[in-house]
Amino acid sequence: MTEDELEAALERAARWLRGCERACVLSGAGVSAESGVPTFRASDGLWEGHRIEDVASPDGWDRNPALVWNFYNARRANVATVKPNPGHHALVAMEQRWVDRFTLVTQNVDGLHLEAGSKNVLEIHGSLRQTRCLTCGAVTNRGLEPLGDAPECPQCNGRLRPHIVWFGEGLDDDIWMAAMEAADRCDALLVVGTSAVVHPAASLVPIARRKGATVIEVNLTRTEASAYADVGLYGPSGVMLPKLVERLA
Ligand code: OAD
Repeated sequence: MTEDELEAALERAARWLRGCERACVLSGAGVSAESGVPTFRASDGLWEGHRIEDVASPDGWDRNPALVWNFYNARRANVATVKPNPGHHALVAMEQRWVDRFTLVTQNVDGLHLEAGSKNVLEIHGSLRQTRCLTCGAVTNRGLEPLGDAPECPQCNGRLRPHIVWFGEGLDDDIWMAAMEAADRCDALLVVGTSAVVHPAASLVPIARRKGATVIEVNLTRTEASAYADVGLYGPSGVMLPKLVERLA
């Protein structure tokens, strides 16, 4: 994008947002990239060196839970060393404009939106900071402390698994319903830092579009969501989102 194209795109996006009653954001790994959290599908991405089916599927878990815990403990240790970046902070500022008419749906499991101060966050793929007991079902917030490769439930001593949605698993019904409702009711959807290839998350984009919402994409490159976008801001979200928020004042 040239400087002039970017200026024009920012102005269009800001104009739409200024007139918008209800706003929704769908975020993905790209938002956390500038914090130092690897994305999934980059050539040096998170799955590099791991077979997805070994570390992020129910079969992989059944075969070798210690390997799975080691993978997630390494991700937890990485997140413990990073901080939210200006992109996360810009989304906090954006929420303050719409308050309870703003929903941030995130595919990220790093918890950085909440750490930055976003309030109405739907973590549709779970959280690295939570565990789930396979015996009593308790979901517990464990922060980012090391958990070892066979952690046990503090309540019932059952086996714990990461509270993450793996390939082949369904999303939590209540959280997914809330995400669909937010996409269905918003009049602007901001799609930030996601390749928009993983479903059902990516289907929020056509859901919002069909209901007439304006779709604004923020990404380094065009993606599967670009075909639905009314305007694209192609550059790092840590730069683009603060520029957009500046123009909303
Ligand atoms: P991907 O790794 O598929 O995509 C990351 C996107 O971020 C790409 O489109 C990049 O171009 C973009 N990107 C990278 N750096 C950026 C930056 N600084 N600013 C803006 N955009 C940037 O990650 P997701 O789309 O989040 O699911 O992946 C979706 C799901 O696939 C994940 O939640 C995960 C994975 O399997 C589960 O673990 C269930």
